[in-house]
Amino acid sequence: MSVDGRALRGGLGVRVRDARVQFQGTDALANASVHIQSGEFLSIVGDSGGGKTTLLRAIGGLLALTSGSIDFTDVAGASVQVGPRDVGFCFQEGRLLPWRTVAANVALPLELEGVGKGERLDAAHAMLERMRLVGVERKMPSQLSGGMRMRVAMARALVTRPRLLLLDEPFGALDEFTRVALDEELLSLARESGATCVLVTHSIQEAVLLADRVLVLRGRPGVSQTPIAVSLPSRDEDGRMSLEFASLCAIVQRELRAGSERAA
Ligand SMILES: Nc1ncnc2c1ncn2[C@@H]1O[C@H](COP(=O)(O)OP(=O)(O)O)[C@@H](O)[C@H]1O
Ligand SMILES: [Mg+2]
Repeated sequence: MSVDGRALRGGLGVRVRDARVQFQGTDALANASVHIQSGEFLSIVGDSGGGKTTLLRAIGGLLALTSGSIDFTDVAGASVQVGPRDVGFCFQEGRLLPWRTVAANVALPLELEGVGKGERLDAAHAMLERMRLVGVERKMPSQLSGGMRMRVAMARALVTRPRLLLLDEPFGALDEFTRVALDEELLSLARESGATCVLVTHSIQEAVLLADRVLVLRGRPGVSQTPIAVSLPSRDEDGRMSLEFASLCAIVQRELRAGSERAA
């Protein structure tokens, strides 16, 4: 874990209770409940249009619940208020601002918080160094490969040293080789930062390989099932070849299919 004071405060716990979100009177998310532990890595899988993005945005405070509640806790389980710097977001394809340099993109969350230029560029440089992206600071996003753009987006999500990292299908548009490399990167970042991570993905394999638990949002709108605990001999190539891995993927698949059979 970093010696940075914010990181030492540890990952945020998240208690989601009976979360429902409606848009124009229609349910986007029907009933989601889950207790995410401080420092846990939770993957969320579910049908397309089942409310995964909606749940993630609600956890990040980007939209209000129609009913239910979301509370945050510290490592000791005490309730805490969450500020904008506590939460980092990483979206599909990175969503970098095309008119800003790489460094200015990474520094953006600090700029929005009113942090001075010198300090935020130092922080951006440190994150880019961590992501092995030194030398591209002055480049524009369009000059980078898809994989590099996602690394920049991860640097931006982490630049405030968040206690909660929310990732919405971040690597879905990348080729398999790049994706596996970024999955490994994400896992090590999650471990060293101590941040709680919530990853939405359409890949069952990715969900199982990275997570401590997998939450299935079943149906459309999605209803949360009991999270599936992941126990693997390792998280590398050997882990991926293990019987445990294959069996867990099958269990998650079955949970998902039970939903679509009911909906059909
Ligand atoms: N801002 C919005 N306004 C209206 N409907 C929305 C909005 N965001 C999402 N929806 C609808 O809510 C449902 C769930 O969407 P979403 O959370 O994006 O699902 P997922 O991420 O699981 O694919 C979908 O039917 C979608 O069309
Ligand atoms: Mg989505």
